[in-house]
Amino acid sequence: MRKKILAANWKMNLTQPEVKAWLHTYQTLDWSALNASLRVYPSAIYLQDIQRAGLHCGAQNVYFEASGAYTGELSIEQLQSVGVQSVLIGHSERRLLFKEDDTLVAQKVSACARAAFPFILCCGEAQDIREAGTHLANVLAQLSENLRLLSSADLHLLVVAYEPIWAIGSGLSADLDQITEMQQAIRNHLVELFGSAGHQVPILYGGSVNAANAEAIFSCPNVDGALVGGASLDPLVFHQLWKALQA
Ligand code: PGA
Repeated sequence: MRKKILAANWKMNLTQPEVKAWLHTYQTLDWSALNASLRVYPSAIYLQDIQRAGLHCGAQNVYFEASGAYTGELSIEQLQSVGVQSVLIGHSERRLLFKEDDTLVAQKVSACARAAFPFILCCGEAQDIREAGTHLANVLAQLSENLRLLSSADLHLLVVAYEPIWAIGSGLSADLDQITEMQQAIRNHLVELFGSAGHQVPILYGGSVNAANAEAIFSCPNVDGALVGGASLDPLVFHQLWKALQA
């Protein structure tokens, strides 16, 4: 049975006092669960605050080189040395705003595999691709490109997050039919690429998940949890999503 995952992607939000307040409220709530894991992906300066609070702490980004003259970047070894447990790769904001292409994303995937470092690979189509009706081919091509250096033996490191770009931060999540269609296509594609081990890869949905739509989204087949931006910044709202995941 695949483990469910609820992951908070804080992006470039929250000051240190706000992180402290988030963690304070977090400690007052009941996060117990069967077969589900909670993760927080904060700005890098707060990684150790998250780790010390006993939460799964993940980085929002990583560079594929081991060390050297790469100003502003973080290596896998550096992240592991402070207890970071996983990383986001290929978020659409990295791809669009910071020009990360499929080649770079594949290099990051390969570096994670070499270091046995778990990662969430984000994929998703833009609005014009959705309108043209080529969204399935577009997302599956991203997966083929991004995962081409990953072998089946390293598949246990992979979580996929399907995040339609038009749904991120827009308040307009994909509808249940759209989510079901894409998550099934991703599942089939993982099995095509990696054989039956592809059934074990958790596939998350992301894009305007909130307290009102979470339970319905989590009930879709092949949705193993969510990657959540805006609704993760308030621990009380995030806790409602956690409850919806158990429902
Ligand atoms: P959102 O962001 O929940 O604010 O739409 C999701 C994401 O970008 O991971």
